[in-house]
Amino acid sequence: MIFDIITIFPGYFSSPLEEGVLGKAIEQGLIKVRPVNLRDFTTDRHKTTDDRPYGGGAGMVMTPGPLAKAISFLKERDSRAKVILLSPRGEVFSHEVAVRLSRLSHVILVCGRYEGIDERVIEKMVDQELSIGDYVLSGGEPAAIVVVDAVSRLVPGVLGCEDSAMADSFSDGLLEYPHYTRPRQFMGLSVPEVLLSGDHGNIARWRRQQALRLTLERRPDLLEKADLDRDDWQFLKDLGYGGKGRKE
Ligand SMILES: C[S@@+](CC[C@H](N)C(=O)[O-])C[C@H]1O[C@@H](n2cnc3c(N)ncnc32)[C@H](O)[C@@H]1O
Repeated sequence: MIFDIITIFPGYFSSPLEEGVLGKAIEQGLIKVRPVNLRDFTTDRHKTTDDRPYGGGAGMVMTPGPLAKAISFLKERDSRAKVILLSPRGEVFSHEVAVRLSRLSHVILVCGRYEGIDERVIEKMVDQELSIGDYVLSGGEPAAIVVVDAVSRLVPGVLGCEDSAMADSFSDGLLEYPHYTRPRQFMGLSVPEVLLSGDHGNIARWRRQQALRLTLERRPDLLEKADLDRDDWQFLKDLGYGGKGRKE
């Protein structure tokens, strides 16, 4: 899968793309992430990418010309690439959106700066707007790396063990169960006995119940859409869950 990232700060991505899961996925050729310097598509001596807003007001707006040129340049290479603008007014990024994006072969992520980008580029050239949450960042770059990271984890082969993406929070509509590793005793707390039992059926049941319990406690709204079987419902009922994302 290819991610092109249009940005005025291509250097922003150096470290995140070299480390950990993303670094390895790039090294193995499973994903390609290419920061594209918007300033390479400017025509003036100062490589200007912003201008004052029509109608007045605070701040600057990204001019449409260089953005349109950069997007056209990338679309000429691959007309199927989907153009996504990172924007606080976009669809809120979630596991479902990440799954949808992971099925694409190529996305172009556009990072805004200043007050945002000229609306006409959005109208003419952007396929989708994505927000990573209800707060305002200084630029689209941190949002772009969040999207690249979450989507890449779902690309086949990126996580060494396919099961770990399947067990991650949200993949089955629930938060994940708690994890433990050595030592068995730590600060007066022991590892739950069932995890030491070697009984894989019991361990799977305990983990499922912990995931249900945590989701009920912290994100009961998720239970409305989760894929629950009869045992799950009974367990939740015993914990006082009355359906429709709330505790009775
Ligand atoms: C300072 S923000 C602009 C905020 C804009 N004036 C507003 O009030 O909605 C600059 C850029 O950061 C990015 N950005 C800010 N918050 C974001 C969020 N929650 N999700 C995705 N991108 C965001 C967008 O690309 C935006 O164009």
